[in-house]
Amino acid sequence: MADGLINLTVDGVPVSVAPGTLVIEAAKQAGVLVPHYCYHPGLPVAGVCRMCLVEIEKAPKLQIACATQVAEGMVVQTQTAPAKDARQGVLELLLINHPLDCPICDQAGECELQDFVFQEGRSGTRYAEYAKRFNPVEDFGPDVLYVPNRCILCTRCVRFMEDVAQEPVLNVSERGDRAYIGIHPEARLDHPWAGNVVDLCPVGSLLSKDFVPGQLVAGSPGPQGPKGDTGAKGDTGAAGSFPGTLPSGKTLRGVFLAEGTAVGAGEPMGDNISFGFSFASAPTRSPARSARSAGATGCERDAQSRRRDE
Ligand code: SF4
Ligand code: FES
Repeated sequence: MADGLINLTVDGVPVSVAPGTLVIEAAKQAGVLVPHYCYHPGLPVAGVCRMCLVEIEKAPKLQIACATQVAEGMVVQTQTAPAKDARQGVLELLLINHPLDCPICDQAGECELQDFVFQEGRSGTRYAEYAKRFNPVEDFGPDVLYVPNRCILCTRCVRFMEDVAQEPVLNVSERGDRAYIGIHPEARLDHPWAGNVVDLCPVGSLLSKDFVPGQLVAGSPGPQGPKGDTGAKGDTGAAGSFPGTLPSGKTLRGVFLAEGTAVGAGEPMGDNISFGFSFASAPTRSPARSARSAGATGCERDAQSRRRDE
């Protein structure tokens, strides 16, 4: 530790990292991606999903890589049978109620549940004969829909609203297999940074209304029922009467990115494109820009601006 760095190995690869570094971050430096759901470098550690279990030499049992700090001489193994078996168990648990609606899910192809199940999940399920839990889609705010059936309760959205946006409107309601993300009955998810939860969600549970496919926006009401209802296996439900367009333009992720340096490890959580386009046609845009949208030439726009200034 001559240079103040901690030396350890991850899957046999030696790395040197600063004291206090988490094992999951040290593993990244060794080129090893430890599967994880609740962990995000810009959020406080929660350690709730247990997906990042790894074996650490001399530790009496498996440890979660997202909440364990490195130590000199540490030997971390992510691919041993006990570690893989434990993570398979977590995935199996998550899939008991997760709908198999990947073909119509907005997150398909960039879903971390899909990724890790492909990477190391079981090939079958032991719960095929049980109906999946069903909860209807909820309208959380001007930009965001919540699909509880897909939620894996990682609490990233809850922690973002509480610790980054500092507007704690989301919570974990109920417990056990009835748990879901709740919203304060008198609140809306309408903070200017709220759109970040869509990108933070590792699965397709929080959706941007801008990108919701037609059947969710304008389709049939779909099966609606009280929370905890058990519906047909694999049902996802439909949002019913949600508005088809998003007029607000309030959530511009660029706002968050502009201030992103203040957040944790500095890793931006959202992107600056997703909600930007709704500004392009927003009625509140300056008349000169609206004129451009309407097809006015540069000269015509200048003339319009001059007339307004006079
Ligand atoms: S909605 Fe998404 S981000 Fe929030 S707890 Fe569920 S899976 Fe995690
Ligand atoms: S990522 Fe470590 S417990 Fe969730």
